[in-house]
Amino acid sequence: MNMNKNKNKNKMFRVAVLGATGAVGREILAILDERRFPASEVIALASARSEGTEVSFGKRRLAVQVARPEAFEGIDIVLASAGSAVARKLLPAAVERGAICVDNSSAFRMDADVPLVVPEVNPEAVASHGGIIANPNCSTIQLVVAIKALHDAARILRIVVSTYQSVSGAGQKGIEELSKQSIALFNQKPYDVSAHEARIAFNCVPHIGPFGEDGYTQEELKLLYETRKIMADESIEVCPTAVRVPVFAGHGESINLQFERPLSADEARELLAAAPGVTVIDDPARKKYPMQMDCAEKDDVFVGRIRIDRSVPHGLALWVVSDNLRKGAATNAVQIAELVVAMERHRAEA
Ligand code: A2P
Repeated sequence: MNMNKNKNKNKMFRVAVLGATGAVGREILAILDERRFPASEVIALASARSEGTEVSFGKRRLAVQVARPEAFEGIDIVLASAGSAVARKLLPAAVERGAICVDNSSAFRMDADVPLVVPEVNPEAVASHGGIIANPNCSTIQLVVAIKALHDAARILRIVVSTYQSVSGAGQKGIEELSKQSIALFNQKPYDVSAHEARIAFNCVPHIGPFGEDGYTQEELKLLYETRKIMADESIEVCPTAVRVPVFAGHGESINLQFERPLSADEARELLAAAPGVTVIDDPARKKYPMQMDCAEKDDVFVGRIRIDRSVPHGLALWVVSDNLRKGAATNAVQIAELVVAMERHRAEA
């Protein structure tokens, strides 16, 4: 074999994690290590506030560097989870320096020339990137992984989805606020409300992100627009309700689907059992159904309570749970980066 070809096949990548001190950034570092990502170097970037601190990368500790344009010099792949404003400011500078960026924020998701990718659903979209690939919102990722095989079999016309989203979706500050409020309430002490729209301890809040004029929140509209883009089907109708619940890790979703053609619960169960990235847990008589406490720290999307929805023609109802920090964010981003690696190695070999 040609020595160069062999070298290209094993090409290693210099990786930057932007937002490395955050809830998702820390998970990205853990997953890069777990999946033995072919990285010759990994650097951790965050704001100036974190300068001098360290984060874990497997058994190693990485010194956190300040994210500024020059930090991307020589970097091949950026995995970013630092919010939209930071992404807009810094990722174009990384692309200019030759990096391919996988961004977990909503900054570029709906841009026509930016692929929005869930590897189990539309891996081919990665090929059309111009330097930035967007990671969808957590609640969209678990929705599309759960419905893709069903859509291919019977074509979904309409989705009604209500989410039960954990506080880790609001980042590190969201996690801390649930802890602090719970302790304060048990001790009959005053508490602050800042990371969530209302008290989240012992409460559910139907308000994630700002409301638009039509009464839907931005978080809810992501379920409509992102689903259509990933599934490449602008005709799918979605009625979403997004609710924050006092759970640390894992989002739940109650999903009602209306199909063009009939699909029985048994057929759906079989299709889902064979679908990539899906685990079916569906034996209600034995109290077997997906729950956040069982799905945390796992990568699959868990589906159960599969049953006919008799309120519409060709209807089906599901309950879906996934770890929002892993499949809903970090794992999906690393999977996208793995597709980039395969594409770059293939290109270098050709
Ligand atoms: P820092 O910890 O230095 O503020 P989360 O969503 O869990 O709150 O995490 C947000 C991540 O984005 C953190 O790593 C945070 O770093 C990072 N971040 C926030 N603002 C900036 C910025 N201006 N430049 C770089 N990283 C930022």
